[in-house]
Amino acid sequence: MTDAAPAFGLEFPLERTRARILRVNHSGECGAVAIYQAQRLFGWAWSDDLNAFLADAVAHEKTHRKCFREAMRDRNVSPCATRPLWVAGGFLLGLVSVLGGRRGIYACTAAIEQAVHGHLAEQAAYLTGRDDALAELIADILQEEIEHMREGEKGFDPDCAAAAGFTGMVRSATDALVWLATFGDSSRLRKSLRLQPPSGVARRIGP
Ligand SMILES: [Fe+2]
Ligand SMILES: [Fe+2]
Repeated sequence: MTDAAPAFGLEFPLERTRARILRVNHSGECGAVAIYQAQRLFGWAWSDDLNAFLADAVAHEKTHRKCFREAMRDRNVSPCATRPLWVAGGFLLGLVSVLGGRRGIYACTAAIEQAVHGHLAEQAAYLTGRDDALAELIADILQEEIEHMREGEKGFDPDCAAAAGFTGMVRSATDALVWLATFGDSSRLRKSLRLQPPSGVARRIGP
């Protein structure tokens, strides 16, 4: 551990924490690919700009999935056994979002990325000084997730009650899944980081 690494207690041993981070991120990317693929099934109904966004997004998510899988192989971490459930849940969520038309799709994207980007930033902060290569990979992926989030946020009215209800539900479900998949590490990391100054990669990512 270098001077740049924030201090964490004994509840975050590197091997175990890193394996949980990799498994949840890889499963999440599998789910993200499934969401966008479900939405793209209805491409005939969408405008060119939405189809272009979905095509870019699914390509990004496939690259993220591959990068995390390679990082797992390099560190002898096996994929999570619940991955098929993430794919099925993601596909179902993609279909549900289609019911809201283009605004439903953008709201779905914004909600998921709002939840995900906080977790990625916290993971990168934890890994800084412990596994810098993985911290940098997560920080790079985070930049693309933030682009998805911003694109999503532009595509619907957050003051619409239905959109607020839908996005709130999706954000909470995403947080709960991440919490379950990391055996609670996600909330413990968040709590620990609140008590520490930003460091290394976390500074690069910003708030
Ligand atoms: Fe992703
Ligand atoms: Fe994304």
